[in-house]
Amino acid sequence: MRKPHRPVTGNDLLHRNKVLALLLGLPILAFFLLLPALRRGHTSPNSSSGTLPFSADRQPPKLAYLISATRGEGRRVKRLLKSVYHPWNYYLLHVDLAASPEERQDLKEYVGSEPVFVKFGNVQVVENAEVVRFKGPTMMSSTLHAAAILLREAKDWSWFINLDAADYPLISQDDLIHILSFLPRDLNFVEHTSNIGWKEHQRARPIIVDPGLYGSDKTEVFWAKDKRSLPSSFKLFVGSSCVILSWPFLEFCILGWDNLPRTLLMYYTNFLASSEGYFHTVICNSMDFQNTTINHDLRFKMWDDQPRQSPMNLTSEHFSQMVDSGAPFARTFVENSPVLDQIDRELLKKSRGEFTPGGWCLGSSKPRIDTCTVFGKANIIKPTAGSRRLEGLLLKLLDEENFRPRQCK
Ligand SMILES: *[C@@H]1O[C@H](CO)[C@@H](O)[C@H](O)[C@H]1NC(C)=O
Ligand SMILES: *[C@@H]1O[C@H](CO)[C@@H](O)[C@H](O)[C@H]1NC(C)=O
Repeated sequence: MRKPHRPVTGNDLLHRNKVLALLLGLPILAFFLLLPALRRGHTSPNSSSGTLPFSADRQPPKLAYLISATRGEGRRVKRLLKSVYHPWNYYLLHVDLAASPEERQDLKEYVGSEPVFVKFGNVQVVENAEVVRFKGPTMMSSTLHAAAILLREAKDWSWFINLDAADYPLISQDDLIHILSFLPRDLNFVEHTSNIGWKEHQRARPIIVDPGLYGSDKTEVFWAKDKRSLPSSFKLFVGSSCVILSWPFLEFCILGWDNLPRTLLMYYTNFLASSEGYFHTVICNSMDFQNTTINHDLRFKMWDDQPRQSPMNLTSEHFSQMVDSGAPFARTFVENSPVLDQIDRELLKKSRGEFTPGGWCLGSSKPRIDTCTVFGKANIIKPTAGSRRLEGLLLKLLDEENFRPRQCK
């Protein structure tokens, strides 16, 4: 059993934020002047079990990815997987029931035939595929299923990240892992609001029944004639279905020793677009976890529709905005969009279809091919320019005006 989770207190986080700001914001020389202060922070009984960097026994955080795909997305998923691959992380691929068994088999064979995946054994395809669609609770249930598999299979990851074929990274995994190693490992990135606006009438009041939960074909959801009132024993939150969640929070959602996650799961079963509200409502109604939220999903998106329903397809026109955002991921991209090649070349420093280079890549056996065909240790992290961009975004999200005032409001 893991130790029960100890909630972050306001003071802890404030203190750690200061340390973080100092660590991230200061040049090397100033760092040495600060060292005594950091040491104090490090050994203070108040600071949660080792969330600060620079201790020799401290490993970089591991990330656990769910990559979801549907019919016809096999090639995009392979490209995405190689771009976000790092031997230090875990990857679970789910190809839903709309795809054919051949497509699922093809992906399994791909995973089994790539020497790097075989060597590190950290990529897996979900065996029992499910129906997944945006309307209704199936997307939420498949996300929870994946998180449960990842919790069971590996105990040593720190954050869960859900991606699908329309996502793409803007920085390398080395950059992401490097920056996350400065953060308390119980932080959760969930974009959320209780100002549900139009969603009250279109999402919260209708009652739906989704045959996708018990049938295998993608038929439409049923709508009940009656509407329900807004709940009074908890407050509804909605937001982005893209999340980055901590181990302790997912363990809380899935093991269910507190009844809140279970009650909300039942409530959200009859909710349109549950994946845009479940984690948000659980985390903000939990005293233990609401202080761990950062109100951002770390994805770059653009919208041109009102109300915001689906993000725009990104193109080369948006390239500089993507870079300036500092976000580690962006969505949505269409297959083979030229901007993906630009991201590969300029941000990830690789060619299409190759691994994103990192500290684990030692070179290639032949000139001019993938630099990760010869590889070394998984935990050697070599940050590049991308880490400065993400650092900038996080400093903004964690500053006094943004962090506490935007939690669960
Ligand atoms: C969460 O933070 C608020 C504001 O900083 C503080 O008043 C509250 O006690 C904290 N809750 C927990 C459970 O730590
Ligand atoms: C994005 O492109 C896809 C495929 O070309 C298209 O079906 C979809 O409607 C586009 N989405 C938006 C928001 O323009």
